[in-house]
Amino acid sequence: MTRYEQIKTELLASPKTWLVTGVAGFIGSNLLETLLKLNQRVVGLDNFATGFQHNLDEVESQVSAEQWACFQFIEGDIRQLRDCHTACAGVDYVLHQAALGSVPRSIDDPIATNETNISGFLNMLVAARDAKVTSFTYAASSSTYGDHPALPKVEENIGNPLSPYAVTKYVNELYADVFSRTYGFNTIGLRYFNVFGKRQNPNGAYAAVIPKWADSMISGEEIFINGDGETSRDFCYIENAVQANLLASTADENVKNEVYNVAVGDRTTLNELFDELKNALENNSVVYQVDRIYRDFRVGDVKHSQADINKAAEKLGYSPNYRISEGIEIAMPWYIANR
Ligand SMILES: NC(=O)c1ccc[n+]([C@@H]2O[C@H](COP(=O)([O-])OP(=O)(O)OC[C@H]3O[C@@H](n4cnc5c(N)ncnc54)[C@H](O)[C@@H]3O)[C@@H](O)[C@H]2O)c1
Repeated sequence: MTRYEQIKTELLASPKTWLVTGVAGFIGSNLLETLLKLNQRVVGLDNFATGFQHNLDEVESQVSAEQWACFQFIEGDIRQLRDCHTACAGVDYVLHQAALGSVPRSIDDPIATNETNISGFLNMLVAARDAKVTSFTYAASSSTYGDHPALPKVEENIGNPLSPYAVTKYVNELYADVFSRTYGFNTIGLRYFNVFGKRQNPNGAYAAVIPKWADSMISGEEIFINGDGETSRDFCYIENAVQANLLASTADENVKNEVYNVAVGDRTTLNELFDELKNALENNSVVYQVDRIYRDFRVGDVKHSQADINKAAEKLGYSPNYRISEGIEIAMPWYIANR
């Protein structure tokens, strides 16, 4: 039995209380769905800045009435310390996902990104520390590798941040480490690499590439590739990220106050991604025949990204079950049905 299977069995036998911040967002709502299906009690905090009620409604439709009754939603804002204290009361495990994502959003409005991602993060640390929660796992980011050229990315070797968003995610790690040193409050940061799957918002200027392209292709619209298409990413299907969160939350103290890469360890170029999506559409009887359009590279983007996942494998027992094509195969029918 893998450590993940073992943990799920233990949680089913002995349910815990979890706080998921950003619960109406993409990753948060997927965490919620998994936890409720494991009969856990979940408190969710969100201010709907980029999350949606329809994500929560969809989770409700996927679980039993008894499981849904174990969910308590708080509409609140992590920029308000009082909301964070309210949400943390009586909680065992915190999964802190709330943030303003997107590199371009942070370039357009660095102050808003800073307020939520740094001040809000600090509020959550203080509230969770005060509530004496058992564990605090937070969404860190591969953007912290910045301009460091080495591939694959190993946790200790980071470069200079390339965007305000990357600064905020790095500051999260610095605060987390200082909370360990000064208050003995140990956390785990999960450096996500391009997570994708159902309920990821395809709309707007700040949408991530997979849901955005899938949506455009389904509608027969043009796809714009930033740069020559040889930019590469380690695309990580959502179920792998959910696994990492459950493993981190239940990890021993001696592997805490650390950050871990959460990805697959693969590298896919944008040109390859285009073909993957086109093929997955064809498997669902949707033929896309529009030529891709190349345009300039985007400011703040890292050219290549690929994770070394050995640290998470060794210390957390992380073992991603889905590679990119498997994730796209599962996600595509959802993208088609939920346009
Ligand atoms: N999706 C990825 O590929 C990826 C990669 C690296 C890191 N991350 C991080 O993972 C986390 C979740 O990202 P996501 O992709 O699910 O994004 P998302 O935008 O779908 O979810 C974020 C959620 O946080 C909520 N939120 C924002 N500001 C808030 C505030 N002030 N108070 C309360 N709630 C607030 C939003 O309403 C939203 O529901 C974020 O911290 C993000 O930076 C995501």
